[in-house]
Amino acid sequence: MATSYKDLGLVNSRALFAKAVKGGYAIPAYNFNNMEQLQAIIQACVETESPVILQVSKGAREYANQTLLRYMAQGAVEYAKEISGGKGIPIVLHLDHGPDFETCKSCIDNGFSSVMIDGSHLPYEENIALTRKVVEYAHKFDVTVEGELGVLAGVEDEVSAEKHTYTRPEEVEDFVKRTGVDSLAIAIGTSHGAYKFKPGDDPKIRLDILAEIEKRIPGFPIVLHGSSSVPQDLVKIINENGGRLKDAIGIGEDQLRAAAKSAVCKINIDSDGRLAMTAAIRKVFNEKPEEFDPRKYLGPARTALKELYKHKNIEVLGSAGHAYDK
Ligand code: G3H
Ligand code: 13P
Ligand code: ZN
Repeated sequence: MATSYKDLGLVNSRALFAKAVKGGYAIPAYNFNNMEQLQAIIQACVETESPVILQVSKGAREYANQTLLRYMAQGAVEYAKEISGGKGIPIVLHLDHGPDFETCKSCIDNGFSSVMIDGSHLPYEENIALTRKVVEYAHKFDVTVEGELGVLAGVEDEVSAEKHTYTRPEEVEDFVKRTGVDSLAIAIGTSHGAYKFKPGDDPKIRLDILAEIEKRIPGFPIVLHGSSSVPQDLVKIINENGGRLKDAIGIGEDQLRAAAKSAVCKINIDSDGRLAMTAAIRKVFNEKPEEFDPRKYLGPARTALKELYKHKNIEVLGSAGHAYDK
């Protein structure tokens, strides 16, 4: 029997995006693969009164199992209520980079409230046809759909692209109209992972393309993938404690803040969380080599992650204080 997200206390992204576009902030989309990450995300978003999108990637489904992750998200709804005096916060459970129709359908049928169908590597017409097919199925169940136009440089699951193919503003109106998507991920110079720019590069994203896209589809929800900032203090802690991350460079927080004030209403962050956890764990391993209780290193990792996400919600995305917007 199919499970609707509505019975799990989750919400789709439609109303959240409308409020975010109007309010000039972006909803955080944080990836999770395990309990500590989920706790950190929920604690941070409850403490900052922010709505949140919990993202499950293909890699996460393989690592942790889709069913288990869905039950964890369901548990997160109750956990958020418990630690917020009963109010809870709006929580979306989203499939990140859905690779095909079948994966999207499986998520829609099993409690996800939002899916991404990533047809960005396909020829334009094939991207439209696939995205349209997912939208038609998803909308029967009031599940929202994110499509993508343009290709980010770097690695996206198993697919890797050498160079960015920026989104062509002249295509967005046609794509949005013909697919019926609820939001659109665009490529404007962000990329996945911790190595987004090379030393000597101008580490800027193309806010001019974003502005051009916004002109063509005013008020339509735009999504930015690959939006980790790769905090240099975390890179330093990792490298001082036995790590080897050379020339890891991310997107400036000022640029993300500017994007969030515009039609960008969902910002995807995964790598920064990985860096925060790794830095905390390496530090414990280095400073307390006698420690072998996982709670003694996963606990500090969880705390570091929570502080990172609180910072993002308050200072970068601007979503803090918007959980209960009318
Ligand atoms: O889009 C990339 C996300 O960071 C997910 O990465 O496929 O390694 O879980 P993953
Ligand atoms: P980062 O690798 O920059 O954190 O991007 C994550 C992402 O886009 C998930 O879809
Ligand atoms: Zn992504």
